[in-house]
Amino acid sequence: MTPDPSHGFGTRAVHAGWAPDPQTGAVMPPIYMTSTYVQDAPGEPRQGYEYSRTQNPTRFALQDALANLEGGAAAFACGSGMAAIHTLLLTLQSGDLVVAGDDLYGGTGRLFRRIEQRFGLRFLYIDTSKPEELARIPADTRLLYLETPTNPLLKLTPLALAVAAAHKVGAEVVVDNTFATPALQNPIAYGCDYVIHSTTKYVSGHSDVVGGALIVRDAARKEDVWFHQNSAGTSNSPFDSFLTLRGLRTLHLRMERHCANARRLADFLEAHPKVERVIYPGLASHPQHALAREQMRDFGGMLCCEVQGGEAAARAVVARLELFALAESLGGVESLVELPVPMTHASVPPEIRRQLGINDGLIRLSVGVEDGNDLERDLSQALAGI
Ligand SMILES: Cc1ncc(COP(=O)(O)O)c(C=O)c1O
Repeated sequence: MTPDPSHGFGTRAVHAGWAPDPQTGAVMPPIYMTSTYVQDAPGEPRQGYEYSRTQNPTRFALQDALANLEGGAAAFACGSGMAAIHTLLLTLQSGDLVVAGDDLYGGTGRLFRRIEQRFGLRFLYIDTSKPEELARIPADTRLLYLETPTNPLLKLTPLALAVAAAHKVGAEVVVDNTFATPALQNPIAYGCDYVIHSTTKYVSGHSDVVGGALIVRDAARKEDVWFHQNSAGTSNSPFDSFLTLRGLRTLHLRMERHCANARRLADFLEAHPKVERVIYPGLASHPQHALAREQMRDFGGMLCCEVQGGEAAARAVVARLELFALAESLGGVESLVELPVPMTHASVPPEIRRQLGINDGLIRLSVGVEDGNDLERDLSQALAGI
């Protein structure tokens, strides 16, 4: 069955990208572990497939599913989230100006500052949560690069305003939708031109595969991205594509539990006397809670907090937690905890971290799909120990 736009998100998550194989009836896509394909005559591939960097049926099934869920014309599955970001930047020219949000995943900032800049791309960082900063983006902006919610501070960008500001000066807009996932937010519905995912996270959802995706809004953008993905060889492997598609089939179910658990823990932490600050878009205390209600269908599974006693106390909390594993990454079924400063955001220069409020004691939780009361009990005992 091929879902159409009238089907709900859950139906599309389960069915998009693959109809039972006409040859064998296989309900799930095979893992086409082949690097090359036979040709009937030189330059005449039998089924249109030549070489797996260029075309692979398992990857294509994942790509079609991702394009469907994000409402894009096409998707490109890459070897990692970073590979997806790099593939998009390869479509730019030396000298182009990228206006980027100031609070980004540490690895994205590192890619911009230490690699892309060497090839002549220019970067300007602004606080994209502020409409007045969006309204002032330079007239020669080529690409507006956003995360919403951001990693780690969970700031939101008003997508409708961002798209209007960028398109007014002829710039394109890309949203890294890793934190929200297509289950909660569809940037293309707001007119964004590209969506990026680290599919390592919620999309695959089981912390067993690294991957990324770049989704394009309309067919006109497809050829250029495809050319660069193929030329630079940033594509995802058949096995990783299979695992990612397998995980994606339950994205809607997992997100429901991630969101419910995160909301519960955010409430618990906000009421806790040893907790100084909780950042979660679903809390009324979040400065952009109203915007979150408007452009997201739920508030996600990520939250941050700071406890009394700063970094030493934060280290004590993460050491005492039992269900939350101390690890980088996020979006898997299991709960994870980390301190962004020495871990995921270690590559962000300290002065920038300070300016943004990524404090040494900041704790980031990726709330899993375990029983919420067990997670709350674990946090409670960890806090009791400080
Ligand atoms: C928001 C965001 N974008 C991109 C990435 C990079 O993805 P990957 O690790 O799959 O390369 C990450 C990784 O943590 C991330 O959190």
